[in-house]
Amino acid sequence: MARQVITTGDFGGYVGEHRAIRGWLMNTRGSGQVAFLIVRDAAGIVQCVMERDQVGDELFDRARHLGQESALYIAGTIREEPRAPGGYELLADEIEVISESTDFPITPKSHGVDFLLSNRHLWLRSRRQLAIMRIRDEVIWAIRSFFRDRGFLLVDSPILTGSIGESAGTLFSTEYFDLGNAYLAQTGQLYLEAAIYAFEKVFCFGPTFRAEKSKTRRHLTEFWMVEGEMAFVDSDGNMDFQEELVSYIVAQVLENRPAELASLKRDTEPLLKVKPPFHRISYDEAVDRLKEAGSAVQWGEDLGAEDETILTRQFDRPVFVYDYPKEAKAFYMKRHLERDDVVKCDDLLAPEGYGEIIGGSQREDDYDILLSRIREEGLPEDAYGWYLDLRKYGSVIHSGFGLGIERTVAWISGIEHLREAIPFPRMMGRIYP
Ligand code: 4AD
Ligand code: MG
Repeated sequence: MARQVITTGDFGGYVGEHRAIRGWLMNTRGSGQVAFLIVRDAAGIVQCVMERDQVGDELFDRARHLGQESALYIAGTIREEPRAPGGYELLADEIEVISESTDFPITPKSHGVDFLLSNRHLWLRSRRQLAIMRIRDEVIWAIRSFFRDRGFLLVDSPILTGSIGESAGTLFSTEYFDLGNAYLAQTGQLYLEAAIYAFEKVFCFGPTFRAEKSKTRRHLTEFWMVEGEMAFVDSDGNMDFQEELVSYIVAQVLENRPAELASLKRDTEPLLKVKPPFHRISYDEAVDRLKEAGSAVQWGEDLGAEDETILTRQFDRPVFVYDYPKEAKAFYMKRHLERDDVVKCDDLLAPEGYGEIIGGSQREDDYDILLSRIREEGLPEDAYGWYLDLRKYGSVIHSGFGLGIERTVAWISGIEHLREAIPFPRMMGRIYP
């Protein structure tokens, strides 16, 4: 008899009833009379209890020795079992093997990370990866609803671009018919700046690309960034907005993904503190603090990962570092009105050593100053005609920022390396799978 198939996520509504699930076998254990099949489906992981007397010798012996990741249809009675993963178990009376799997390469024993990365297509099924991907999904939905609730319009920015968004040093370029080179977008920001003149408050969310030759745990060559851009908002207002956004993301994950955080053994105490106002220190103060802590940093340099780590350890919540030296930052940032050597920008550093998750700034809104910055940086002027136009036709104060999804996911999940925060990581030296 065909049973109604449900997912393990709905078990709570069917206690004592007879239903079926479809999923993949993660593990089996048990004795000659009773076996436990640990099965994963769309919603979670459930323990299925199989008794020899119930299912018969033939099926019992076959199911008992099925390979990891065999696909199964299992029907049975749902009951509460506080000791089982998810709090329920399925007392199986019918098992159908949809397809058998043998020699699945990723077993419960530990594997080296290169091996796991080469098997990323299979590694995604592991408990830790399941938890991280669900947190990533939560982070992204939280971001979308946050922007929507505040009246932002989603404006998709192009991936193939003719103008350099951030820096010439980390561009991926590709031939573009008779027009020379096109670049893979490093940011959608410049296009969002055009869109604020149509919609005032806009955001984009998509993949961005940087040919990062460094092999650090904080860098991918393809990463996802959400960027917001707001007319009539200055650098302080920009930071206010960012701290609201980050607090909302963290709160949503705490509320909706407690099981995943627990499965990652994430200490949630530091996350519970992520509420406005965040700490704000100037770059000048950051350098003083770093020198005091023994860093070799010199005024004028961008802060390195180690310096960021030192700073975050001095605070219990995320910390903004604002007003960096002009020479350390991108050409489009607004000059400080009282100082020639710094620009109105902020980096948001996540606590517990994680470091930069957001880069933001007020944008230069004066035509002549922007043009001179483009020239100073040696950028190709003709590629920026459209961008300069925005300073000619009704230019207004405006600000925006970009939040790196993988860095945010890694921090909230409490994991070391960005490679686990994205389904299929792209790094120097790795394009497979
Ligand atoms: O600080 P970035 O370079 O800022 C921009 O791209 C601005 N145009 C954003 C804006 O104002 N609209 O990058 C923003 C964030 C960083 O804070 C970091 O979280 C992430 O993007 N990021 C990376 N994440 C992973 N791998 C990389 N190679 C990254 N580079 C930047
Ligand atoms: Mg940055």
